[in-house]
Amino acid sequence: MKKSCKIAVLPGDGIGPEIMKSALKVLEAISEKYGIQFEFKEALVGGAAIDETGDPLPEETLKLCKESDAILFGAVGGEKWDNLPTDKRPEKGLLRIRKELDLFANLRPAKAYNALLDSSPLKNSIIKGVDLLVLRELTGGIYFGEPRGIEEKNGERVGYNTMIYYEHEIKRIGKLAFELARSRRKKVTSVDKANVLEVSALWREVITEVHNDYADVELEHMYVDNCAMQLIRRPKDFDVIVTGNMFGDIISDEAGALTGSLGMLPSASIGERYAFYEPIHGSAPDIAGKGIANPVAMILSAAMMLEITCKLPEAARDIEEAVDKALEEGYRTTDIWSPGTKKVSTEEMTEVIINHIKQS
Ligand code: IPM
Ligand code: MG
Repeated sequence: MKKSCKIAVLPGDGIGPEIMKSALKVLEAISEKYGIQFEFKEALVGGAAIDETGDPLPEETLKLCKESDAILFGAVGGEKWDNLPTDKRPEKGLLRIRKELDLFANLRPAKAYNALLDSSPLKNSIIKGVDLLVLRELTGGIYFGEPRGIEEKNGERVGYNTMIYYEHEIKRIGKLAFELARSRRKKVTSVDKANVLEVSALWREVITEVHNDYADVELEHMYVDNCAMQLIRRPKDFDVIVTGNMFGDIISDEAGALTGSLGMLPSASIGERYAFYEPIHGSAPDIAGKGIANPVAMILSAAMMLEITCKLPEAARDIEEAVDKALEEGYRTTDIWSPGTKKVSTEEMTEVIINHIKQS
């Protein structure tokens, strides 16, 4: 365990600030229980930063992130900023943090909660027991490839992007996939479009080479379209899914939807030096300020931080178990509420979880 952790707190827009408040309260309870010290420093990002400074990622915010052990991030975006050019949008703040801090690995776990099986769009028998991890490459591929642009050619407009992967980028994410699989069910599914794309053919080749050092882990290759289908048909068969930036963006939303509520799913984005933790869901502007947002994804993101950055896995388990118990007792925020369960506010859900942490 680290004795202290410097944490940059970036609440962002929409429900970001409300759920961040919940996560910080949970971390205070963890601090009391385990004696770890947190130093929280808050900064602007996204639309909130555009309004104040004109920039979705102000210099000051980036500096704070670079001086911290971890970054806790709420959500960015909202209608108010939807008409800005791509370059000035709140999302650009997020993309720049990923690139500037070299957060090349994005971990998106999706787990089915027994208490929430009925919230899933899939049959209970298909979803029960699902526990998978999408490992998305986050700083390369078509999101950042050059050349890119929109221009005039032959009297009409043409738009283009470049899907590009260097061998070293594939190697480092591949290695991490096998390492992570070792502490899980020892299976990696590498997802690509190698029947059409050269970049994917190389991806497949390099992942296969990396696998030579991990004979104890099973490796399968799957085309992305087939993976999209198999995730619906037999999601339980997946353990770690490793894939590039854009396929990972799409597949991770699908994996998230399987379990029923996006409001439950955390994520971590890590590099050699920095680590960044955020819920998978967005800023949900339609319910912002109402006190009804589900704080669980943000709280579980803090749990991932405790495990990965603060080296305090016991505290992460405490939080996960507290969330399980709250759900088993029937506490639900609006997004996961169903008849017969207890509808609670963001704050009430947070309190229930904190009480379980204290009691365990
Ligand atoms: C995500 C989001 C982002 C992405 C957007 C907001 C830029 O969809 O984190 O999955 O496409 O990476
Ligand atoms: Mg996405």
